Amino acid sequence: MKTEIVKINRAQFEDFELFSAAERLRVGGLVAFPTETVYGLGGNAFDETAAARIYAAKGRPSDNPLIVHIADTEALTELAAEVPEAAYRLAEAFWPGPLTMILKKSDKVPKATTGGLNTVAIRMPADEIASALIRLSGVYVAAPSANASGRPSTTKAEHVIEDLDGKIDMIIDGGASEIGLESTIVDLTGEVPLILRPGYINAEQLAEVLGEVRFDEAVLKRSASENIVAKAPGMKYRHYAPKAPLYIVEGKSDEVIRYINAEAVKNAAEGRITGILATEETKKNYTGGMVFCVGERANAASIAAGLFDTLRSFDETGVSVIYSESFADNPLGTAIMNRLLKAAGYHIIQLKQDEDI
Ligand code: TXA
Ligand code: MG
Repeated sequence: MKTEIVKINRAQFEDFELFSAAERLRVGGLVAFPTETVYGLGGNAFDETAAARIYAAKGRPSDNPLIVHIADTEALTELAAEVPEAAYRLAEAFWPGPLTMILKKSDKVPKATTGGLNTVAIRMPADEIASALIRLSGVYVAAPSANASGRPSTTKAEHVIEDLDGKIDMIIDGGASEIGLESTIVDLTGEVPLILRPGYINAEQLAEVLGEVRFDEAVLKRSASENIVAKAPGMKYRHYAPKAPLYIVEGKSDEVIRYINAEAVKNAAEGRITGILATEETKKNYTGGMVFCVGERANAASIAAGLFDTLRSFDETGVSVIYSESFADNPLGTAIMNRLLKAAGYHIIQLKQDEDI
C-alpha cells in the first residue's frame, strides 16, 4: 500500500486541507495524525474492520484496547453507558487536553475497539489538527499511539514513517508533538478514581477536581520482580525499548557520570559503542560514547518532549548498550520515569542509597 504524506502547518491551515484525510477515516481507512501528546493512528471507532486494521498495522495484541478520540463533550453520552458526574467535571477542567477517561461503554462501541472490554477509553485532544480532523470526519476516531507495537511512541511524522510507511493510508505531518508523553489515563469505573497511566496532567491536578484519586499500583512499579498486573492492558507489555539494552543509573550526579564514563571506556576497549542519555546540564561531562541530550533538567517538560525521539535515535547509531541518567520524583518526573523504566525493562543500576539524579 502506498502511504500518502500530507504536510499541514498547525499555525495556519484551512479545513479543506484535511478533507481527504477525513474522507479516508469515514470510509474505513487509517490515518496517522498529530496530537499534543504523541501521534495517533486513527480509524473509525465504530467500524470493526478499521479497528482490526489498526491492530494489524501496529502488530498490536488484540486484547489491548484503543482510545476513542472525540471533538465534543456531547460524545460522552453516545460512547458511555453512564456518564458519572466526575467525568463532566474532568472534561470541564482538562478537555480538550492530554487526559483519557475510562467509562462503562455503550452498546454502540464495538468490542473490537475496546479489546473485548466492557469499558471504553475516551479522550478529546487539544491539538488543532487532531480536533479539526475528528470534527470533519464525522466519526469517532479510535487511535492508539502511531508506533509499531513495542517501539517508543511517535512524536514526529518521521517516526511514524519509520514504523508504519506502506501499512496505512495516510500520515498527516503537523510537526513535533508538544508534550511528547501519552495522555494521563484515569479510570472512573470503580469506587475511587484510579490513575492507570501517569502523564502531563498529574495526580495533584486530578485530586483538585475529583477529591480522592489513587495510582494503580502497577504505575509506580520499580522492579520487574514486582508481579503486579496493570489495569490498563497496554501497560503490561514490554514497551518503548530501544534495540540495545538500556540501564538507568541512579546516584549522585558526579558518581553517575563517573560510572558511565568508566563503562564507556571498558566497552570501547572491547570494540563496543556506548550510548548515553544525558541532559543539557550534564552532557559536557561525558568523555566517551555517543551522547544524546534529551532535554534540560531545569525544565522537566523538555525532557518529556524529547524522550521518545532520543530513545529512537539510539537505534540508528549501532550502540551496543545504553546508559541513562534518572529523573526526579516530581509530578512530571513520575510520568517520565514510568516510560523510561519500561524502556529499560526495569534495569536500574543503583550506585548509592542517597539519590541525587
Ligand atoms: O496520548 C494518548 O493517549 C495517545 C494519543 C494518540 O491520543 N494514545 C495512546 O494510545 O497512547 P495507546 O493505545 O498507545 O495507549 C492506550 C492505553 C493502553 O495502555 C491501553 O491498554 C489503555 O490505554 N486502555 C485503553 N482502553 C482501556 C480500557 N477500556 N481500560 C483500561 N485501559 C485501557
Ligand atoms: Mg501506545
